[in-house]
Formats: sequence, structure tokens, C-alpha cells
Amino acid sequence: MVNAKDYEFKISAAGRVNIIGEHIDYCGGKVMPAALSVRNTVYVRRNDSDVIDLSWTTLPDKVSLRLDALESYRNIKYGNYQAGCALLWQHAGHKLAGCDMVQECTVPFGSGLSSSAAIEVSTIAALSTIAGEKFDPKEVALTAQRAEREFVGVNCGIMDQYASACGKRGHAMLLDCKTLDCEYVPVRLDGCSLIIANCNKPHNLVESRYNERRAETDAALDILSKKANISCLADLTPEMFSRYGKLLDGKLYDRVKHVVEEVARVDAAAKAMKRGDCAALGSILNASHASLKDLYEVTGRELDTLAAAAQSHPGCLGSRMTGGGFGGCTISIVQKDAVSDFKKRTGKLYADAIGYGASFYDAEISDGIVVEEL
Ligand code: GLA
Repeated sequence: MVNAKDYEFKISAAGRVNIIGEHIDYCGGKVMPAALSVRNTVYVRRNDSDVIDLSWTTLPDKVSLRLDALESYRNIKYGNYQAGCALLWQHAGHKLAGCDMVQECTVPFGSGLSSSAAIEVSTIAALSTIAGEKFDPKEVALTAQRAEREFVGVNCGIMDQYASACGKRGHAMLLDCKTLDCEYVPVRLDGCSLIIANCNKPHNLVESRYNERRAETDAALDILSKKANISCLADLTPEMFSRYGKLLDGKLYDRVKHVVEEVARVDAAAKAMKRGDCAALGSILNASHASLKDLYEVTGRELDTLAAAAQSHPGCLGSRMTGGGFGGCTISIVQKDAVSDFKKRTGKLYADAIGYGASFYDAEISDGIVVEEL
């Protein structure tokens, strides 16, 4: 337990769920995530030294990061995210101050709900605040993304960090990943709830081909931009795709088909959400899952089984994997009065097929960064 009154600030950032728009943020598409009430919280106080002393509520480890040697912590087991964030915030021209930080994470690790973004974003917001600077949440998100790419080595898009920093309670974010324009759309699901379920695939078995997918889309963009006037794959219209798609070999063709169709699904889903049309939204979620399974190939047996079990429930209007994939969570739209039976039956179908259970979360849609002075 943290004794909050020993610290100066309590600063948290959100985990996120992505409602629709999967694997298109790094193609310049629009995505529709929402920030969650599961979060990473940082308790921080100045310590008038030139180190960041890090500890966790859930780990016995303690790590000291010297402010003049941040680069050297790239491969440490715990604390590398915080070191990377501090280093890139420093590189962006901000001052750092020695401090004690206790980290407490309620975003389940490896769940696809962006525990890493929540850690990165809350750490940078804490570093900035304790150094006496006001921060711009967008800049925090962009720096956190750079830390993930340049320090941790995952070539991610901007969706997770942006949602973690800039989320708004009760709202989904229609985020244009090319321009970073963000429209907040109230989550209106008359009579329905969003249910998040974790397939609990052991993390050491998650074979992440994330960087490989990115490389494939980059290669496709290289080929297509010689013919079509596009600066990112999300610019490719269905007409352009039907004209130039034949330039791509089998796998690349499938990947780009997913991108083109997912871009259209986000648009349709945003309209359905604004009308409060859960049935339409649900079938868009189902179509997205099928595409991530067959064209983009980022699901796997566990997520496919969980989504299919959910989709087969009479009270479920749609279900799909959410986040990077390969393991992690699904998101389902379920009629409110069917939620408890949905969890029971979906959970049983899944456990019977896979041999271990799924977990269901009742996370709420929440704000991004929250700063509290203690
Ligand atoms: C991960 C990445 C995001 C995004 C999703 C897939 O969560 O961090 O940038 O690409 O996968 O939509």
C-alpha cells in the first residue's frame, strides 16, 4: 500500500479498449478507442538528487535510474519503460528532476488493453509535473509512442498513447491518426453494454508479429504509392484498390484489403454509434474480427474461439478482438439484461474448448491523464 500523504502528486493514465479501427493507426487511418478506468497510477515526490528512484506496489524490486545515464537502462527487466520515457522527454527539451516514484498498475498485463501506454503516459506526466512544468497531453502521447518505438522496440502507432493521455469519460475518440484531430463521440448504446473479455493466453506463448505486419504495410505502401497519389495506406480508396491491388502478391493484397475495408468500417461504426444503433455496430464488429482473422492474420485460436463463443450468444450483437491481437481481449456488445448469462455461457464454451477460462472486466470509459495534488 502507498501512503499517499508521503507524496506530492498522484498522476494516472488510462488503459484503453479499441472499439473499432484495428491495425490501421500506423496506416494513417481513423480509429475509435476509449480510455478505461483500469489505469497506471504514479505517486511521485521530489528527492533533490539526480536519480529517479522507482518502486512498484506489486513488485518487490526497486530500481534507481540516473538522470545522466538513462540510455544505459535499455535492457533492464523492470524500469526500462520509465527510463525510455524519461530519456525521450529529456531529448524533447524538457527538464527532469530527481524523484521517488511508486507505480501501481491495474491494467492487466498482456491483455491488449495497453498497460504499456498507461505506464508510459503516466510516467511522463509525473516527470513533467514534478519538474514544475505544465504538459500538453498530445505531446506526452507522442513522446510515449517514441519511447515505445525507440527504446522498447515495438514499432507501434499512436492510438494507445493518445487514448491513454487524452481520453474522456463516457466518450469514444474518433481519432484521425494522420492529423491527430480527435472527435469525442458519446458512447450511446441504448440497452447494451460493452463487455471486455480476456482470453488469458499465457503471455510467453503470444507470438507477436506486430512489427512484421508494420513492415508488410510499409512494403505495400511503397508499391502502391508509385501508382496512386497516396501518402499512407488509409488514403487508398476502394476504387484505387480495385485498380492497383493486383500489383500486390497474395499476403500483401490481403493485408491492404483489410486496411481499406477497416477504414470504411470505422466510418460506418462512428455513424452507428452517433445514432445509438447497436445492431449495426455489432455487425461491424463481427466483420472486423473476420477480417483480422482471415486477411490480417492477427487473431489465433484463443481469440477466435472467444469471439465465436460470444457471437453465438443470443444477447450478443457483435464481438471482435481488440488491440494488437495474437492474445489479449475481445470486446462485445451485449444486451444489458443478458450480460450475466453472456459471461456464464461464453466463459463455459471458451473453457471447454481451450482448457482454461477467460476473464470478464467491468471497466468503465474514463478520462485520460488525471493529476491530483496530494
Ligand atoms: C497495438 C499498437 C497500436 C495499434 C494496435 C492495433 O495496440 O500499440 O498502435 O497498432 O496494436 O490496432
